[in-house]
Amino acid sequence: MISLPIALGVGLLATIANAFTYDQPYRGQYHFSPKEHWMNDPNGLLYYDGTYHLFFQYNPGGIQWGNMSWGHATSKDLTHWEEQSIALLARGYGGNVTEMYFSGSAVVDVDNTSGFGKDGKVPMVAMYTSNYPIAQTLPSGKYIQENQQAQSIAYSLDHGMTWTTYDAANPVIYQPPAPYQDQYQNFRDPFVFWHEESQKWVVVTTLAALHKLAIYTSDNLKDWKLASEFGPYNAQGGVWECPGLFQLPLDGGKSTKWVITSGINPGGPRALLYFVGEFDGITFTPDDYSVYPGNATANWMDWGPDYYASAGYNGLAADDYVQIGWMNNWQYGTNIPTSPWRSSMSIPRHLSLKTIGAKALLIQQPQEAWSSIVKKHPAYSHSYNSIPQGSVKVGTTGETIKLDLSFSAASTASKFAIAVRASADFTEQTLVGYDFVNKEVFIDRTKSGDVSFDTTFASVYRGPLTPNNNGMVKLTVFVDRSSVEVFGGQGETTLTAQIFPSSDALHARLVSTGGATKRVDLKVYNVASTWI
Ligand code: FRU
Repeated sequence: MISLPIALGVGLLATIANAFTYDQPYRGQYHFSPKEHWMNDPNGLLYYDGTYHLFFQYNPGGIQWGNMSWGHATSKDLTHWEEQSIALLARGYGGNVTEMYFSGSAVVDVDNTSGFGKDGKVPMVAMYTSNYPIAQTLPSGKYIQENQQAQSIAYSLDHGMTWTTYDAANPVIYQPPAPYQDQYQNFRDPFVFWHEESQKWVVVTTLAALHKLAIYTSDNLKDWKLASEFGPYNAQGGVWECPGLFQLPLDGGKSTKWVITSGINPGGPRALLYFVGEFDGITFTPDDYSVYPGNATANWMDWGPDYYASAGYNGLAADDYVQIGWMNNWQYGTNIPTSPWRSSMSIPRHLSLKTIGAKALLIQQPQEAWSSIVKKHPAYSHSYNSIPQGSVKVGTTGETIKLDLSFSAASTASKFAIAVRASADFTEQTLVGYDFVNKEVFIDRTKSGDVSFDTTFASVYRGPLTPNNNGMVKLTVFVDRSSVEVFGGQGETTLTAQIFPSSDALHARLVSTGGATKRVDLKVYNVASTWI
């Protein structure tokens, strides 16, 4: 009792000191974004000792890409994030930058194989791409050419708060493998993990312009040996970036398989490929159905435009695997109308594999922890036997909502959709729906608000979805101040798209086109802000 006023006083002071509010127009209320400045890829995702670490590509000096450093945020539940001080600041920042810290990953070296541990403190080790804008000779004695990219390491003995680069020997992977040494300007994005079966560290890097991945192994995170190559396969436009290699449970954990992911930049509307197969510690062998002849088709991890460079958490069990993606697109990412920050991360996604139509497909679920901010009881709930051609009003909704929408595939309509973030007259709206003819989920953001900053932004995006065994189509949709994320079916089809609606565009309605839609069930839940 006596301590109450003191506690109140301290609380008040803390509030004044943290006067920053995450309340700007378009500021996602349950998606991580930095307070200010430019952000791209998630890096070094690591769960350790009760804390989820999220590092990220960050420009400490502006709202455009540049001075690439590693920003840092932490969370106890993958939902509420606290931004921390910069983990790795571009070398020479403020003057001539001589080394930028490009994308990479991090592990906890529990057995101190690296020898970086001291006084019983377990080292975290980050592996990243050193991007050197100028030719130079490093403290390690290694000569670097202009614009060279090579893989380096750094360690932390204080739970990721401060980092020491391994200057004695960096970069630890100095050049691309023979015969690709001419690719030294396009060799990047190491994803490192511990491979239990072979008791080795494994890292996958990309030879970006060749659409190839190079896999290496190590006993100590310092000395790396080339193990194998992967690719090129499937869609091969642009460059390959930010690869991932991880193990997932298949069909509820009866067995496991391995998955490779790779970004394509510029990727057109979709940009993240995945391959399912086997990995023996040396070589990844894709299943036949994962590899397509020719160039056109592929398994896309997300069928929308704004899910890229996704990365998974080290330190979680395979049946608990979580990834986060950069919710933006290089096509227009540097022009999106937000200020004083640019870009946010996706909802964390829980990944697994399921056999659907004789293929092991990636299943993505919004991380369970989200239930703490999604209200238990729907703000709106309604079932309809049939919605005839035309529209049915839902009224207004909150700005930040989760929708569960299901309906029968045996409908006479050609399309069924919910319009969200719509103006009262529906001249502004974002449509999320299903095309019964082509069996596709779609997001139509052609009239979603501000679309003026890029000529390709006002578009429709589609992904394949077969109705479930009961003949129903199920969509779960997360809407935030500047994003829509759709999880179709069991999570085998996802679409992620940014939108920049007017703040008062809060109307919603159901729209049935070309006929009636049957057995419709809609529930709308409010989602609380994670910033308060
Ligand atoms: C992908 C990417 C990576 C690179 C980073 C630089 O978004 O181009 O390949 O490491 O961004 O910021």
